Order: sequence, then structure tokens, then C-alpha cells
Amino acid sequence: MKNFLLHLFFLLIILTPTQAQERSSFYATMDSNDAEKLKMELPQEIEIITTYKGQSAVLLTEYAANELQENLILHGPGYVFKGSKEQAVKSLENDFLSQTREITNFTITEDVMVNAALDLVQEINIENEILELEGYGTRYHTKTSASQAVMDLKDQWEAMALASGRSDISVRLYYHTNTNMPSVILTIEGAESPDDFIIVGGHMDSSNYSNQNDAPGADDNGSGVASVIEMSRVIIDMNFIPQKTIEFMAYAAEEIGLVGSDEIAAEYKNNNINVEAYVNFDMTNYKGSTEDVYINTDYYISTTLNNFLFDLMDHYNSSGAHQFTYGTSICNYGCSDHYSWAQQGYDAAFPFEAAFGEHNPYIHSSQDTYSITGNSEHAAKFVKLGLEFIIEAAKSQTLSTNDIIGNNFKMLIKDRKLIYQLNNLNDSINQFELFDITGKRILVVDDLQRSGEISLGNLANGFYVAVFDFDENGTLAKKFILN
Ligand code: BES
Ligand code: ZN
Repeated sequence: MKNFLLHLFFLLIILTPTQAQERSSFYATMDSNDAEKLKMELPQEIEIITTYKGQSAVLLTEYAANELQENLILHGPGYVFKGSKEQAVKSLENDFLSQTREITNFTITEDVMVNAALDLVQEINIENEILELEGYGTRYHTKTSASQAVMDLKDQWEAMALASGRSDISVRLYYHTNTNMPSVILTIEGAESPDDFIIVGGHMDSSNYSNQNDAPGADDNGSGVASVIEMSRVIIDMNFIPQKTIEFMAYAAEEIGLVGSDEIAAEYKNNNINVEAYVNFDMTNYKGSTEDVYINTDYYISTTLNNFLFDLMDHYNSSGAHQFTYGTSICNYGCSDHYSWAQQGYDAAFPFEAAFGEHNPYIHSSQDTYSITGNSEHAAKFVKLGLEFIIEAAKSQTLSTNDIIGNNFKMLIKDRKLIYQLNNLNDSINQFELFDITGKRILVVDDLQRSGEISLGNLANGFYVAVFDFDENGTLAKKFILN
């Protein structure tokens, strides 16, 4: 026994310092109180570079990162990975930038489109998607199955784009510097203001701190990705033509410190891309609390955007077939990819599955499987909120209010004919399109005269949307009832 203890003693002496030296370190940002605590406990394992408004840029060893996870904070790593010292320091300043951002005014006017979209949401699609994602076994960012999941989503989105026959929809992989796993992005180019972006997204990778080969990640974050995919499916199936550019994103490597979204958001900022709003979907299918959708209110979240989400739910979800309730929740630090966008000064929001602490307790373990939730009822509410946000935010700012063409263009329905006339304006009509209540395009007419009529003779009675595309003045949508 004595001998054993002696051996153990020597083993410790030999191992401890070598391990400390060999441990790889990396830059990160984290809560400055956590950083201070860590410094007290493990002075050799963390260097605090600078502190600003409650956040610190630090150099951390892997050991310190583990310690933080296991002993200091309630959940997750508690830090955000940064590729270099400069990036870590700069992101503290970016946090400051986000306090002084411009405010975008969104309105709620698209009842017909939104209600049609909400009716199209199907829980079975969300379920199938979550099960498929869980089926990869692990989507931990270093595993080939994680990259495979991204490639497969790229194929799925490309098939959807192809089937739509539209040339304004494209899909691309985004390759990263700090992980081998790519992200994937579906873009629908805005018809009127393609430089203004409305973005939704969620992370594709998963994690299980005790065994990275067994990280099913059904709720974290199969559910969020499945929700984003269902939003994209509905938008494309109803042939929604956005005035602004819409993007749907599935990120790499969130679980190791928001790596994928951080690189994407930084590039968007560098390229001066006007992202008007970003809404994040990370964990949507576990109903752990009394209310349904919990809107995150952390300090870096946009209050304006949050208020818009509350307004949307008051308007579309307070009664009827798509009714659900909401509350508020916090993480207290950058707990998911919305933080990457907020850091670049963009308005970001994060609707979450439960009050913080009442969320799915099985995440980051081999038990984060679909069977825990059993159905996709909860996630469907997030898909609906996402669709409300996308349709209202990406519509034309000018179409419903002060539309130049509106005063010079007349349309009426008479004797099952659509009669139109363009007056006093030097423009011509490129194309006419007719959509039914499900958003399906049922008629296209090219090269119209300045005035004329289109026969609606054999169409079923019901609600329709007529869209005129003008050479100079964008598009004009008019709703009508045929009876
Ligand atoms: N989905 C979680 C975020 C989460 C978990 C929010 C529980 C609210 C409650 C996310 O994937 C995650 O694990 N994030 C890390 C931080 C990130 C910077 C690695 C976390 O929250 O610990
Ligand atoms: Zn997550």
C-alpha cells in the first residue's frame, strides 16, 4: 500500500506539470465574473486579457474550459471561442456596437399570406427531419457524420429549389477556418430590395460531453434545424416572393463556442451586408414550462425585434387554430448563435422551448433523442412564429402603403374577368401571375399590354392574389375574391 501511494505520488508529480504545459489553449470571451473565479481557482490556466462591460477576452486552457463547464456554470461551456487574440478583444467592442444600432420598423399587414402559411405547417415533416438528424448518431463537429448531415441538407434544399423552378433560390456550403464541418445556407433573393437581409438559423452540430460518438442531438439542435427546414419548405411551397432577401442557415460547430455562426456573421459585417434581423432556433421541441414559446431577453438581444415577435404572436396566435402562449427567458450569456449576430451589431432574437432551467434536461447526452418528446407539436409553434416573422419582415416596405404604381394602376374583377389598366406612368407590364390561397402559382401571362383583361372563367370560386411585375416599378400584388 505504501509502495502504491509512493508510486501515485510520483506519478502525480510527473504528470501534473507536463499536462499543464501540453494542454492546448485558445482565445475566448466569457462573463468577467466567471473569468475572475476561474483565475482564483486555476491561476495558471487562464489569462484575462481585457475586460469590458462585464465580458472578458481570455486565453483559456482546455482544462480550464472543462473546469468551467463542470463546476462554475449551470450549463454548457460558458465561453465563446475566438480564433485569435484580436478577434477576442474586438468582439468586446462589438458588444458595445450592438447597443447603438439602427432600429428597423416592421409592421403586421400580411394576414392572408401568413394565415395561408400557418395552415401549411406539418408536424410530420418536423418529426421526420428530427429523426433523420438523430439517425446520424453524432453530429459533433469533428465527425464525418456531422459534415455528412450538412451535405445531405444541402442536397435536400437543392432538390426543393429545383422543384420550385425558381431562379431566385440558391443553396451554398460555407466553409470555415476553425472547424472542418461546413455550414449550409439557402437564399431566396429579394425581388425589390435584395441587399436587405432577413435571416433565420440554427446549429446543425451536436455534442455529448461524455462521449462525442454518441450525440444524437434530437432537441439540441435537431429540433431547431428541423423547424428552420419546415419554414423554408412552406415559404417555397407557397411560392412566396420576398421583397427582401431571406436566408435559412444551418451552422457548424456551435457547441464548441459558436464557431460557425461567428465566422458567418463576421463576414456579413465585413461585407457591410444589411441584416435587418436575425432569429435563432436552438431547442424547440421540449415543452418544459407552462407557456409555449419563451423569448430570450438577455442584455445583447434587440428589444425592438423582441417586441415585434410579441406583436406577431399577439396578432396571429392569441386565438384560433394556431393559438399558443409565450413568456420570457434568459441565458445570461451568449448561449447560442444569435449572440454571434448581436456581436456584429445586428438585431437578434432567440425564441426558446421553455423557461431557462425547465428546458430539456437530456441535452448534451446520449439521451437527447426524439422519444423524450414523442411528437413535434411544440416545434410547430416555432415554425409558425418563424413564418410570421419571415413573411412580415421580408415583404415590401412600400407595397402596402405608399406605392407609386398603386395610384396609377387599376384592377377590378367583373364577370369572371380580371380587368386592368395602367395610366399616366411611363412603364410597362412584364408579367402577370396568379396565386391561389395555398400560395400555388396557377397562371402566368407574359408581355401584357398597358391595359386589357384576363379570363378567370374556369377557376374555382375563392381567394386569389394577382401579382403584376412592372419594368420600372417593381411588383404590385392585389388580393381578390372570385365568386
Ligand atoms: N442549445 C444550447 C443552448 C441552451 C441550452 C440554451 C440550455 C438554454 C438552455 C447550446 O447548444 C449550447 O449548449 N450552448 C452553450 C454555449 C455555447 C457558447 C457553446 C451553453 O449554453 O452552454
Ligand atoms: Zn444548442
